[in-house]
Amino acid sequence: MSSESKFTVDKRLIDSFGRLHNNLRVSVTDRCNLRCFYCMPEHDPEFMPKSELLTFEETERVVRVGTGLGIDRVRLTGGEPLVRRELHKLIESIVSLPGIRDVGLTTNGIFLSEQAHLLRDAGLKRLNISLDALDPETFRKMTRRDGFDRVLAGIQAAKDAGFKPIKLNAVSVRGLTEDQIIPFGELAREGDIDVRFIEFMPLDAENEWERGKVLFAHEIIGILESEFGALDPQPVSDHRAPASQYRFRDGCGTIGLIASVSRPFCAGCNRFRLTADGKLRNCLFSLEETDVRGLLRSGGSDSEIAQAMQNCIAAKKEGHEINTARFVQPERPMHSIGG
Ligand code: 5AD
Ligand code: SF4
Repeated sequence: MSSESKFTVDKRLIDSFGRLHNNLRVSVTDRCNLRCFYCMPEHDPEFMPKSELLTFEETERVVRVGTGLGIDRVRLTGGEPLVRRELHKLIESIVSLPGIRDVGLTTNGIFLSEQAHLLRDAGLKRLNISLDALDPETFRKMTRRDGFDRVLAGIQAAKDAGFKPIKLNAVSVRGLTEDQIIPFGELAREGDIDVRFIEFMPLDAENEWERGKVLFAHEIIGILESEFGALDPQPVSDHRAPASQYRFRDGCGTIGLIASVSRPFCAGCNRFRLTADGKLRNCLFSLEETDVRGLLRSGGSDSEIAQAMQNCIAAKKEGHEINTARFVQPERPMHSIGG
């Protein structure tokens, strides 16, 4: 039996626009050791009480039920996932679930020096590191904390542990990160790190996002081209991947652009989210969520959990409405949704 045919059509997570969902992003905590302004409040964030966080057993159960509906890719996020104690144990259990093909992690890199080997040994395949600046002052402006050197050490530790490729995500903000673009371009051209710029999205805690603060992908490309010459768009290898890849014409490396605001990729979206406190969200920007923690803690059956997932996907909207007057920013900021 092929892996495709083991799911009947009605058991897979297909929304009303025909999008098949096989990718679950699992947030394991809303806590973080940085305070990036686009994601968290600077002072006194209200963290979820520990009792509301899903246990590793509960998280694993949700993912396992998901595999029965066609989930085969999982990415662990936060907050900062590496502040959750013994995260490698959750990774080990998810990696070994039948049906799971790929497990990734998005981290700020602060704890990677200590944990990179452990994560690799646990079976983690893919690592995305968030780093918005290649100088300590801009890093501090973005993250409102020190830690730049630790992130650099963390990237080195990840390389030493054998992660390849390592993806580096840099959020781009007008008035703040223009002078980081060429240094990131140089890093990308060295070839062993995949650099991707992400447009600043309205998911900050202080509601200070405005269109004028988005440094658009086409502007980033313009800055890169002024320094390195033409960038050639690469043929799309995966229609559902959010990053568009460009190759430097002289053959030295590629660079990715995640143009969430100026070129939404909702039409190919295959992902949904589980928050650290056990809510399913069908979109970063959704205003509604589906509770699974209640089911998990009240003796709910696997088929009830599966039904909750199906309901969540069935309610998915066509796309985010950032570019319309109708847009309403979700109440949860990024750190409590899961990046
Ligand atoms: N806009 C764009 N990217 C964001 N991230 C977090 N908040 C935002 C935002 N408001 C990024 C993080 C991380 C990834 C998961 O999402 O930097 O790299
Ligand atoms: Fe922490 Fe990531 Fe949010 Fe920065 S973006 S505050 S690293 S969760």
